[in-house]
Amino acid sequence: MPYQTLLTKLENNIFTITINRPDKLNALSKQVMNDLDEVMDEVYKNDDIRSVIITGAGEKGFVAGADISEFVGLSVDEGKNLAKRGLDIFFKIENCPKPVVAAVNGFALGGGCELAMACHFRIASENAKFGQPEVNLGLIPGYGGTQRLVQLIGKGGAIELLISGNIIDANTALQYGLVNAVVPQAELLAKATSILAVVNTKAPLAVAKCIEAANAVYKESVNGYDVEMSGFGNCFATEDVKEGTAAFLEKRKANFIGK
Ligand code: COA
Repeated sequence: MPYQTLLTKLENNIFTITINRPDKLNALSKQVMNDLDEVMDEVYKNDDIRSVIITGAGEKGFVAGADISEFVGLSVDEGKNLAKRGLDIFFKIENCPKPVVAAVNGFALGGGCELAMACHFRIASENAKFGQPEVNLGLIPGYGGTQRLVQLIGKGGAIELLISGNIIDANTALQYGLVNAVVPQAELLAKATSILAVVNTKAPLAVAKCIEAANAVYKESVNGYDVEMSGFGNCFATEDVKEGTAAFLEKRKANFIGK
């Protein structure tokens, strides 16, 4: 399905979503957010999609933030509504049962850093830069940045970045645990693809339950250990657990069907 601000490609069950506003460093305009919302519906519904890469067009920007030109003259309620909309879309990414990896190819600032953090993990190119510079605009992050940055790198590092607006390079992000790996830009998509190619050979329902249980750590309304326990138990109702255990005992490769 065509999107105004996104390019999409499905290859070997890996769906690559490229935010395509390179002249504005892929800033998250309302239209980009609407498209991200819709594309995630496609990800949830399309059984041919097993995992997802989100990246930005061009060699300079992943996403340089929410589109600042759309902030001018907003009222308090409009500001809250904008944040609510962004939060809902990023929760849709975070709670996606299929792995979503951010391939960060350049600036990931503000909403761009928040988008990367809503993904299940992040791979960065050597030129990538991360930060939450909203304080420079008299603002704070609105799409989950204050929460996910603390979750990912700890409170001290997060508060320093949030209140200084400092921008860190890819290797510092690696030291902070914000990204899993740093690779030359030309190898970025290949790196993300090679990780997902391995993940795609695993039992899809088990993969989904791992994501759900890991996300439960940060949800006050649920007990993560209970989520793990029921997820573990429910796996025994699947065809794939029969296949996986049989394949191990028969010393052959498992062929999972996602049922
Ligand atoms: N919203 C809207 N437009 C943005 C944008 C954003 N968040 N980030 C970059 N752009 C636009 C610039 O206005 C410029 O557009 P123009 O060519 O029509 O003037 C274009 O993208 C290229 O950006 P430019 O600033 O010229 O590139 P640069 O290499 O000099 O600087 C950045 C790159 C990322 C340091 C700089 O663009 C920047 O600080 N962006 C805003 C980052 C930010 O505060 N994000 C948080 C928003 S809540």
